[in-house]
Amino acid sequence: MVDATTGQGGHSVLFGKNLGPAGVIIGLDVDKEAIQRAQFILKDLSCKVILLHSNFSRISEEVHEQEIEKVDFILADLGLCSAQLADSRMGLSFLQDMPLDMRIDKRIKRTAADIVNKADEKSLADLIYEFGQDRASRRIARFIVRQRKSGPIKTTGQLAKIVCRALGKASRGHRSRIHPATRTFQALRIAVNDELENLKELLDSSPGLLKKNGYIAVISYHSLEDRQVKYNFKQNEKDSIYRIITKKPLVPGREEIAENRRARSAKLRIAQKQ
Ligand SMILES: C[S@@+](CC[C@H](N)C(=O)[O-])C[C@H]1O[C@@H](n2cnc3c(N)ncnc32)[C@H](O)[C@@H]1O
Repeated sequence: MVDATTGQGGHSVLFGKNLGPAGVIIGLDVDKEAIQRAQFILKDLSCKVILLHSNFSRISEEVHEQEIEKVDFILADLGLCSAQLADSRMGLSFLQDMPLDMRIDKRIKRTAADIVNKADEKSLADLIYEFGQDRASRRIARFIVRQRKSGPIKTTGQLAKIVCRALGKASRGHRSRIHPATRTFQALRIAVNDELENLKELLDSSPGLLKKNGYIAVISYHSLEDRQVKYNFKQNEKDSIYRIITKKPLVPGREEIAENRRARSAKLRIAQKQ
């Protein structure tokens, strides 16, 4: 199987325990430190574990480089781990003040600060609208451009405050369900890490990598990703390549959300190769 988003290795451990010595897990992650941690967590599994610091957009190349032609299962649990959100080197959180970075893979050249300080106002507004689905995108972009005239925006805290000011909301004690800066931060993260393009490449490569009756399972956390997965599976079903197992996505119940609040937006879709 391929765990396309190994993270803390939680899913790989569960699957690995059931695979036995004949099984092989190829684990990918763009976060080098996650791969190093997973190496330790997965060391006692009896199956073979191959962990690679790689983007899942390269899934075909990575699997073929291991001289494996096809796999039984592809799993992708998109987005981020809680540890990454809290890690100041990632620069992802608006709840703590961190350098405005957002590159999960440090091999990427352009940071969120580069975009925020260099993009023209229209491009910024379009990005916040397209990837953040924030209807106040123009106003937020205007406030960012005005603010950066008096010096570069360097931290997540600075950016969060600017967005709150643009929306006329306080950064603490806001009433809405989500923090006012959530959508702008999501937009920048998607842009910096090229998330939608990577997902497209993963979805496009998967049919060619799966054995007959093999499965692909994708957990997404926002509607832009989920829409992509949904349409890819539907198109592949139309072309008799997949059979969709989850007519509606599986979502966590109340108890699971109470235990793990970050799971609240998760949607799991599964398809089987015909
Ligand atoms: C939600 S976490 C996965 C958690 C994992 N399932 C576990 O049990 O610990 C998502 C992981 O995907 C990684 N990731 C995000 N985009 C990626 C990509 N394009 N290619 C490979 N890994 C990616 C992140 O670095 C993060 O570690």
